[in-house]
This record gives sequence, C-alpha cells and structure tokens, in this order.
Amino acid sequence: MARPFRVLVLNQISASGLKRLPAEIYETGKDIAEPDAVLVRSADMHGMDIPSSVMAIGRAGAGTNNIPVAAMSERGVPVFNAPGANANAVKELVIAGMLLAARNLPAALRFVDALDPQAPDMDKQVEDGKKSFAGFELAGHTLGVIGLGKIGCLVADAAIRMGMHVVGYDPEITVDAAWSLPAQVKRANSVPELLRASHFVSLHVPLVPATRHLIDAAAFEHARHGAVLLNFSREGVVDEAATLAALDSGRLRQYVCDFPGPAINGHRHVIALPHLGASTREAEENCAVMVADQLRDYLESGNVRNS
Ligand code: MLT
Repeated sequence: MARPFRVLVLNQISASGLKRLPAEIYETGKDIAEPDAVLVRSADMHGMDIPSSVMAIGRAGAGTNNIPVAAMSERGVPVFNAPGANANAVKELVIAGMLLAARNLPAALRFVDALDPQAPDMDKQVEDGKKSFAGFELAGHTLGVIGLGKIGCLVADAAIRMGMHVVGYDPEITVDAAWSLPAQVKRANSVPELLRASHFVSLHVPLVPATRHLIDAAAFEHARHGAVLLNFSREGVVDEAATLAALDSGRLRQYVCDFPGPAINGHRHVIALPHLGASTREAEENCAVMVADQLRDYLESGNVRNS
C-alpha cells in the first residue's frame, strides 16, 4: 500500500487549510524523510536544501519571492500560490495606513500614552494635543495606485467610496485589462505621471527585476511636495535611501510601509508595520485553503491549477 503523502510545513499555516490535505503534516524542526511537498508562508527558501523528493511547493500568500521559483521549475516542481486570497485584508490595512498618516495617529497615540492623567493641567495638555495633531481628510485628495492586480483594484475601489480621486498605473498591464477597476479611475501612462497627480501613492506590484527600486530618487523628483508613500507590497520596490532623503527634504510627508528595517525604524516620518497586511484570521484561512486545495489536487492527480 502506498504511504500517505508527507507535507513539510515551514510556517504556521491555518488549520482550515492543513485539514484539507490528505497527508501527514510535519512542522519544521520535526524529522521528516522525503517530503512530497512543502507548504510555506514567509520563510525564505532561497539557499535551503530542498530535498529531491519534493514534488510541489505551496505558498500561503500572493508573492513567491521567498521561493526559488526558477530553480524549482528547472526541476519540474510547480509552485502554487494564493493570489487574491488575502487581498481584502491588505486593502483594509492600506486604507488604515492612509488614515494613520493623514490624522497623525501614531504621534497622537504616543502623546496620550505619555500623558499623566493626574496632572493638574491635563485638560490643557489634551487641548494642545488636539491642536497639534489636527490632520486632513482623505476625501477630495488623490490616490495613485501602482499595480492593478486584485489588491490594487480593491484599494482603488475603497478609496473612491471614501470620496478620493484615484489614478492608476500598472507596469505590466493596461488599465483596461485590470482585474476589476472602477470606471472612475483615471489612467496614468507612467510612474512620473502618476506621482505628479497623487497626494497618496500606494504600491501593489510584485518584486521582480522590473519593479526593483521602481520608486527611486529619479521618481521622487516627480512626486508632489508632501505626498504620502504607502508600500504594502515588497520592501525592494522602493529605494530606501532615496525615500529617507525625500522624507528629510520634505518632498515626502510620510512613508507608511509593512516592513520594519534598521534605517527606517524610529524615523519620525515613517510608520512601519511588521508585515501585517495579510495577517487577519480570514486572510490566513483563505490563503491556506486555496493553496492546500491546489497541493492536494496536484499530489493526488497531477492537476495544476492556480487558484
Ligand atoms: C503575500 O505575499 O500575500 C504576503 O506576503 C502574505 C503574508 O503575509 O504571508
């Protein structure tokens, strides 16, 4: 009798997905001989010794840049991912990111944490805080969305519903070919054109050679003075040194990103999150289920489907 499939799981993956796999599940660190497949979320598999028994890899997320995809395809090993399964979670956090920046919320929260509720001048301090943290509304401002896949389109739609104007650009596809873009979105023909129009710029492209440092010092030359840059895609899409220079010169008002890093942590104009975009219960379940179904189909019958 054939033995059950063995799946090596490198990160914590929602049980809703794992239980769809007719396989023995081995968490990383446990002894496993000849795994048939690997299931991964954020662990970096570059440089990892991937056993020759592995027939498929599943990534419980959209991006696959933590997996040596080219090397795997030379070996005939398909890499499955979960495009769109966490798009709603990312969209919600991007909207939150714009609000964090526009309403000065991180500084306001730090201010309240430091208040002494027993201080005799507490009311005066609150009044001063209220004045110094006054912000601006999203409605009426323009959001530029770079990358018009599922996340970019959902972000554009949400922004329009909040009364924003939206300009869209995708380095790979025309605005017309975008997944599901609201009719109100204006087209930009290039990154500079989009930057010139936008008070907020949100990045939703994968990290591939063509998008590495898509936003660099030359791009910032076109940005509106005081723009807010949001990066919930991948760290390498933005040239960090150029971003810090743009923040220091005032060209950029704030950088909101989903990746902490030594050069940006603690910078007064940076709001950095620990890669939380897809970290909701719902998104984790959706990703795990989508990728587990693909792995199961492949292991059982050799069927390849993406989503
Ligand atoms: C993604 O590529 O969708 C995210 O990186 C998922 C995650 O946070 O693991």
